[in-house]
Amino acid sequence: MNRQELYISLDVGTSTTKVVVAEILGDDLNIIGACYVKSKGIRKGSVIDIDETIQTINQAMKQMELIVDLKIANVLLCVSSIGVELSPCFGVVAVANQDKEIMTEDVSRVLDAASVVSLSQDKEFLTVIPNRFTVDGVDEIKDPRGMIGIRLEMNGTLVTVKKTSFYNIIRCVERAGLEILEPFLQTLGASALSLSKEECELGAVLIDFGGGTTTVSYYLDGCLQDTVVMLFGSDLITKDLSTVLETSFEEAERIKEKYGRAYLPAADPNQVVDVKILGTQEQHQFTQYEITDIIEARMEEIFRFIYQTLDHMGIGQAPHSIVISGGGAMMHGIYELAQEIFDTRVRVYVPDFIGVRNAMYTNALGTILFAHQYGKLTGQKFHMGIKNMTVQEDAPLIHHMSKKRQEQEPKEVKTKGEKAALKKIFKYFWD
Ligand SMILES: Nc1ncnc2c1ncn2[C@@H]1O[C@H](COP(=O)(O)OP(=O)(O)OP(=O)(O)O)[C@@H](O)[C@H]1O
Ligand SMILES: [Mg+2]
Repeated sequence: MNRQELYISLDVGTSTTKVVVAEILGDDLNIIGACYVKSKGIRKGSVIDIDETIQTINQAMKQMELIVDLKIANVLLCVSSIGVELSPCFGVVAVANQDKEIMTEDVSRVLDAASVVSLSQDKEFLTVIPNRFTVDGVDEIKDPRGMIGIRLEMNGTLVTVKKTSFYNIIRCVERAGLEILEPFLQTLGASALSLSKEECELGAVLIDFGGGTTTVSYYLDGCLQDTVVMLFGSDLITKDLSTVLETSFEEAERIKEKYGRAYLPAADPNQVVDVKILGTQEQHQFTQYEITDIIEARMEEIFRFIYQTLDHMGIGQAPHSIVISGGGAMMHGIYELAQEIFDTRVRVYVPDFIGVRNAMYTNALGTILFAHQYGKLTGQKFHMGIKNMTVQEDAPLIHHMSKKRQEQEPKEVKTKGEKAALKKIFKYFWD
């Protein structure tokens, strides 16, 4: 196997931490390995305990290294939409090539030009999403490479994140001994995998129903328009079951995953489930119908909240399809309930590849696909072992950020003294 074609993504979630290793050959995506471990140290999508999160990442990576029989040194990091802001951006460059053929370097330069903006102290640059290119006045171009032109323009979306939560997860990954090849906003990956081009064009809502968070992202005209995170997810159902059935969190989780239904008509009133009572050896019996009654009430509340959120996002009345993914989407009956509440085209997305047939892998797997597409467009390499960036011992936070900062704030970072100033900014965050 050619190691240089392997992509490795890491998704540190509230409930589970996922690692996916895949190769993309031509149009074929082959899964080499996928695994997950229960997360510790994360709450509602953010790091609350650095050591526990590092341990979780180490555990997941060790497991993956055994599966693929490789030492993993660098990963693509899936970044949640928490603290993310989107704003329109624009770049323009003169085509460099003598014969005026637009090359990947021109695309890369126009993206860099669009990322030169001043940001407030609490924000960090994450990425520029190229939405449309214009070549010598001809617009609506998705990929200008190979075209002939003099002036290349790009209208895109600038993605920034709040420094604190972003730096914390980065610190954990780097302290776990991993280099971050690139952080990618996970909804972009999920959409690349789960939404069709037509859905993205006409208007689609992608719901990532995770354990501690629910992320709603809206795509229209082929571009990400908005992304909003709600600080609750499927773990809320586990908590409900644990409280009402008077059982442990672990037992409630087992019951939810094995017998849980999101929609009452999907439940069997005759199926009896034994539930261990918390702190005793006794068991209670509940029917699947009774269990579903608890789940459906909460699911309905969550979906109605999402419905209202869509209204606030200004897309309540727009024709769109709704695609639900994330681990929480694995519950039976979720499609039927969502269909009833949203009253529009609804689909549950579960990756259809051997080894990752679980919706909790959508973000990690999609990130690989997105990285591949983004890399092709911009000439960057995001597969293992190719992009060789060196970490300075005394500057643990990612090099990616310092690189982008140089572009955004040209006054900084150029000299040793200025590098020290940059470190002070980081230090300020950790003091
Ligand atoms: N078969 C199933 N039925 C119901 N729920 C399930 C099933 N499988 C997994 N889940 C739930 O999915 C959630 C985990 O999903 P996922 O891994 O996508 O979340 P996460 O990424 O850890 O969390 P977040 O994105 O909110 O930080 C857990 O709440 C888990 O109980
Ligand atoms: Mg998640």
